[in-house]
Amino acid sequence: FQGKALAGKNILVTAGPTQEDIDPVRFISNRSSGKMGYAIARAAWEAGARVTLVSGPTALDAPYGVERINVKTARQMHAHVMQLAPEQDIFISVAAVADWRVSNTQTQKVKKTGTQGGLDLALTENPDILAEVAALANGPWCVGFAAETENLHEYAEAKRQRKKIPLLVGNLAQETMESDQSRMVLFDDQGSHPLPVLDKLDAARRLVAEIANRTVRPGAS
Ligand code: C5P
Repeated sequence: FQGKALAGKNILVTAGPTQEDIDPVRFISNRSSGKMGYAIARAAWEAGARVTLVSGPTALDAPYGVERINVKTARQMHAHVMQLAPEQDIFISVAAVADWRVSNTQTQKVKKTGTQGGLDLALTENPDILAEVAALANGPWCVGFAAETENLHEYAEAKRQRKKIPLLVGNLAQETMESDQSRMVLFDDQGSHPLPVLDKLDAARRLVAEIANRTVRPGAS
């Protein structure tokens, strides 16, 4: 891997949705396919990194050369990421982590009453994995994602500052979720940098090059 942009780097990527159980047969989740995170894991491996992918449930095969750890819930993803984070150089948080989990999960399947009765779900906020990793002393260099449906620039930059991360990738949910393409805008200390519409693997390779530019000293490998 000598000479590759991320040679010798340990990179941790999260991808996919998380699933939060309502009962043994039902869950709350979101429209993340995992494609962007898997493409980034592949692109990072191509760039010479040792890549670990912590993935929520997806229909995708692990990219060649990438070690995948499968999880379902945000709390499982949190536990694996916090255990692996200290030995990483770079953390790329692509997963669409469910913001809430059900706090009154039922151990048996909930039965309908047949009387048009509703079902109340109590929701509790999940841990913010990215913000926790970003707050580690000597932790990895962190990249976040934000899928917004409106006000992309305002919300994405606010997110970057709130989570205290050097680089955040913003995109419009309607343009990226369930799609094979992505139109990314990079947010960093210098401002915002729009990228063209690209297939997700091309977008991933471009992002990995941008990350390498920001993290690897010239001539270091
Ligand atoms: O504002 P929001 O939490 O949606 O920011 C999205 C970014 O934060 C993504 O990079 C996502 O992977 C990460 N995130 C996380 N843990 C959460 C929620 C979001 O790591 N509980």
